[in-house]
Amino acid sequence: MSTPAVPDTVCVIGGGRMGAGIAQVFAARGAEVSVVESDGNAIAAARARLTAGLAKAAERGALDTDPGTILARVAVVSDLAALPPHADLVVEAVPERPELKVNVLAKAESVVGDQAVLATNTSSISVGELGTALRRPNRFLGMHFFNPVPTSKLVEVVTTPDTDPSVIQRAQEWVRGLGKIDVTVRDSPGFATSRLGVLLGLEAIRMLQEGVADAAAIDTAMEQGYRHPMGPLRSTDLVGLDVRLAIADYLHTRLGDRFAPPRLLRDMVARGELGRKTGRGFYDWS
Ligand SMILES: NC(=O)c1ccc[n+]([C@@H]2O[C@H](COP(=O)([O-])OP(=O)(O)OC[C@H]3O[C@@H](n4cnc5c(N)ncnc54)[C@H](O)[C@@H]3O)[C@@H](O)[C@H]2O)c1
Repeated sequence: MSTPAVPDTVCVIGGGRMGAGIAQVFAARGAEVSVVESDGNAIAAARARLTAGLAKAAERGALDTDPGTILARVAVVSDLAALPPHADLVVEAVPERPELKVNVLAKAESVVGDQAVLATNTSSISVGELGTALRRPNRFLGMHFFNPVPTSKLVEVVTTPDTDPSVIQRAQEWVRGLGKIDVTVRDSPGFATSRLGVLLGLEAIRMLQEGVADAAAIDTAMEQGYRHPMGPLRSTDLVGLDVRLAIADYLHTRLGDRFAPPRLLRDMVARGELGRKTGRGFYDWS
């Protein structure tokens, strides 16, 4: 069976945590990649992320080419107008602000040709709403990568009613070309992952609040009883309680009361107990 292909030319807008990872995985499979960053400092930071990411991948034995050769396939630029017009795929990975995403996507669309597929890596914003500013919403969809991109297997392919079936198929094939696993989800709040993952986390926090069991017992119940690789409270600590609260607030407005954040979550965020990154969450990480 032949290995599925990745696109020849990929543009990534935003070279942060996610964008640098996305650029790395496509370049490692042979694609020519252009990353757009906002200014000189951000360009240097994006290059440093790529270099560090490739060094880690080499250490894991995950590369079949040396890191220098892969890095040479990546150009980091500061102007969307410098993107190659023949790009096959543009992935937007700028911060989670709708007006910023709409702006860079529309600019990128005006530079690349009609052949290009445009994708957003948003974790929560409606893909359909981001697509309304585009001239070719039929060539637009969500490609929701997970953090850290190089070692996370899943990519959610998020489709809108406008997305052309051939575009969906290409995105699915490209995900497989990266050696990752695609699930296709209709554009809806929280897609498949956040919607279920956050709900489980919220219920675990309500159980802790009600004194049903302590955090370790709740996590062990899911890990050992249901074979989840990580319990919902430990996982909330790793993602960040503030990040989870923001998503829960958003899903609450869109999907109703079952996503209402519990008091305990709000109180912990107010106290700065945000999980691993602050040293304290449901567990002590200091
Ligand atoms: N971090 C995660 O766990 C995760 C997981 C899945 C999806 N996402 C989504 O991915 C997107 C990016 O998240 P991140 O964690 O990589 O953020 P980040 O802040 O690490 O990176 C964003 C990058 O975009 C750059 N940028 C800002 N404005 C720009 C512009 N006008 N043009 C070009 N670059 C610009 C910034 O300099 C920064 O390097 C968000 O939509 C986020 O919701 C994040």
